[in-house]
Parts: sequence; structure tokens; C-alpha cells
Amino acid sequence: MNDRIHDVNYVRACVKYLTVALFTVTLTSGLSSAQTLSVKDIDSAGLPPGLVRMGSNENPMGPSPKAIGAVHKYVYNVNRYGWYELDEKGMPSSLDTEERLTVALAKVDGVPLPENFDSREHDSPYFFAPGSGNILKLLAIAYLSQGGKEVVEAQVGYVDIAEEAEDLNTAGIPTKVTLVPMTSDYKHDLDGMRDAITPQTALVAITNPNNPTGTLLTFDELRRFVESVPPEVIVLIDEAYVHFVDDANYQSAIPLALEHDNVIVVRTFSKVYGIKGLGLGYAVAGSKILDRMSMYSTGSPSMIAKMAGAAAVEDTAHFEKSRQAVKDSKAMMYNGFDEMGLEYIRSQSSFVMVNVKHDSETVSDEMWRRRVRISDRGSDHMKGWIRVSAGTKEETQVFLKTLRTVLTKLL
Ligand SMILES: Cc1ncc(COP(=O)(O)O)c(C=O)c1O
Repeated sequence: MNDRIHDVNYVRACVKYLTVALFTVTLTSGLSSAQTLSVKDIDSAGLPPGLVRMGSNENPMGPSPKAIGAVHKYVYNVNRYGWYELDEKGMPSSLDTEERLTVALAKVDGVPLPENFDSREHDSPYFFAPGSGNILKLLAIAYLSQGGKEVVEAQVGYVDIAEEAEDLNTAGIPTKVTLVPMTSDYKHDLDGMRDAITPQTALVAITNPNNPTGTLLTFDELRRFVESVPPEVIVLIDEAYVHFVDDANYQSAIPLALEHDNVIVVRTFSKVYGIKGLGLGYAVAGSKILDRMSMYSTGSPSMIAKMAGAAAVEDTAHFEKSRQAVKDSKAMMYNGFDEMGLEYIRSQSSFVMVNVKHDSETVSDEMWRRRVRISDRGSDHMKGWIRVSAGTKEETQVFLKTLRTVLTKLL
């Protein structure tokens, strides 16, 4: 019965996949690059036709087909809670959702787990939530909601924690936010962030690679920073975009979270794994932080999200395809921006910041009038900048063509 599902959406998604693949083959097999597409030709995974969405750092290749398969398979088990029963040989049956995801992740993250890992018996360095944004919020509540605390973040950075802190202020819980300006090459100023720590500082938030600038801190820079801050200050390292880092020698900060009980690394399934709509994020940290967050947690992700997540992690083909699509799109953007004489920041992430040399809000509005969505990032610190998420080759082509049209019109 499970094998005979005729889900209309699933069939539509498959047709879309094939169409995009055919398009790509055609494009790369001889059509002149002058023969450009228009927004009407775009039919992206997960969106209505005639729309280019390059503002939200989503995976343009769609979800992992293996994750889709897991959703189809486990949808028949949703009458059950996600914990498992042991079979007659004492082995876990197929509903071992937490273990399944933990073991799949530990393998790729290089996190050591006890043999025959069982979350009921063993401490786990993994914490799951319905999105990494939920984990950031939990951290803010767990460490700032007592009042009188301070948080340090980069200016320009993701500032999700800073926004949570502002919400606490609005709710009458005094919380100080210190935003430390970036270095001249758009990186976190780690020395400045260390200097901003006071006895009231509870949390320092770092996004690596950074959002929106796409710049990267090395493992050694992060290690030196962690070793130099007071041990009671929690250091959050948000690695939402770590899978897109180009440098083959780059090392994740997860070992720092395993070694230091004041470090937490947070990641998401919304980016390279392409399953934002299922809601899944995770953290790696020691029991001191995880126990404290757990006190405030309101529940874990659904069984479907966890099983789809495990399948996505194991789908190395989709992972590589997604990474390559981002790389190709960024290369097209760099070329296009060079041709247009625009300044941009080479990105280690799945998006690129570019200075459009006009009011960025006007440019964003003009782009959207033409059904091309990008993210306006203009501010006092980065006047005229927009952030463009990687898209498929076709989306990127239409984005560049539209940007050229808009900037010509605004001259
Ligand atoms: C740096 C960063 N952290 C966290 C998140 C939240 O991701 P999620 O979709 O898992 O809530 C995002 C989303 O764009 C992000 O850019």
C-alpha cells in the first residue's frame, strides 16, 4: 500500500525536477549565453511558476529525495510517539527516531558516541528542536531572562539573539545588547567582542560563516577566542551555513563544543538539506548547557522531521548537488557583478552581498515588481547593499538580467 501512493504533489515535484534537469542539459550543451531566460520561464522547486526567490537562503535544488522518501514511509506511523520498542532480539525496532538521527549526524560531524547508543541510557551531546531559530530563542531565554544580563553580537551579524534580547527589554526584563562593528574585511572583530564582555555578559553570539556577509573565521581564531573568554560566558557558534564553506581544510567548531562546557554549536536542516518546511535544527554542547536549555524547551521536532533529517544526512548525492549548485550560482554572480562594476564580498556561504550603489530598498522594490525576490541589507553600516541567495543556474541568470535592467533604469 505504501508503495502505491499517488500523491499529486510528489508527482508534480518529480516532473519539476526532470524539467529543471533537462533545462540544465540544454543550457550547457550549446545554446548561446546571449539567449537568456526571463522570469516567466522559471518554475522552481517548491514555488509557483514565474517567480525567482533569492532572498531567503533556501535550497534551490529542493529537498533531498531520500528525505521525501522518509516522509512518505513514516507518515503511516504518526499515530505513535517516536520512541521505539525492542524486538525479540533486544534490538531497537524502526521507530528509534532520536537514535537514528543522532547516529546519522554523529557520523558526519565526527562526534564520538557510545557503542549501541541509546538516548535513554547514554548522555547525548545532541539537542534537537523544530528549527535552529528555536534553539537561539531557547538560549536567549535560558541565559538572559533573569534580567540584568548582557549579550554581545557582531554588527553586521545575524542578530537573532540580539532581537530576542530586545523582546526581553520590551517585556520589562532589562537586557543589554552590545553590537561590535565588523573588521574592515567584514569579519567578526573577535578582539573587540572580547573587550565588550563585562561581568554581566551571559552570552556571546557568533555566526560562522557570517550571515549576511558570508565571511569566515578559522578554527584557530575561534579556539583562541573561546580560551580567552571567562568560562561562565556562553559562546554560541551558529554554523547554519558551514556546509557551503569552500576551503577543504576548514574545520567545524564542534570539537570546541565537546571540549568546553561554555560552547554550543548550532546547525539547521533548512539550508543544505533543504527541509525547512519540516522544521529541524540541532545543537552540540555539553550537559551543562543542554540541561539548562531543556528546562525551557517546549518540545522536540516531529518524528517525520527527524526521520527525514536522518535520510537527508545520509543522502550524500543531494548534499553534493546542493553544494555544487550554490558554488555555480556564486560564480555566475561574481562574473555578473564584475561585468556590472559592482563591489561584492566573496562568500563562504550560500549567498552573496553586493553593493548596488543605489538606495537598496528602491532596488529591492524594483526587483520584486519584476517578480525577483532578494534581501535588502542596506543600513547605516552597509549602505546600498543587498544579499542574494544562490539559485539554480536559470534563476541566477534571470536575477542578473533583472538587476542589470533595474540598475540601468535607475541611472
Ligand atoms: C545564521 C542563521 N541561524 C539560524 C537560522 C534559523 O534557521 P532555522 O530555519 O533552522 O530556524 C537562520 C535562518 O536563515 C540563519 O541564517
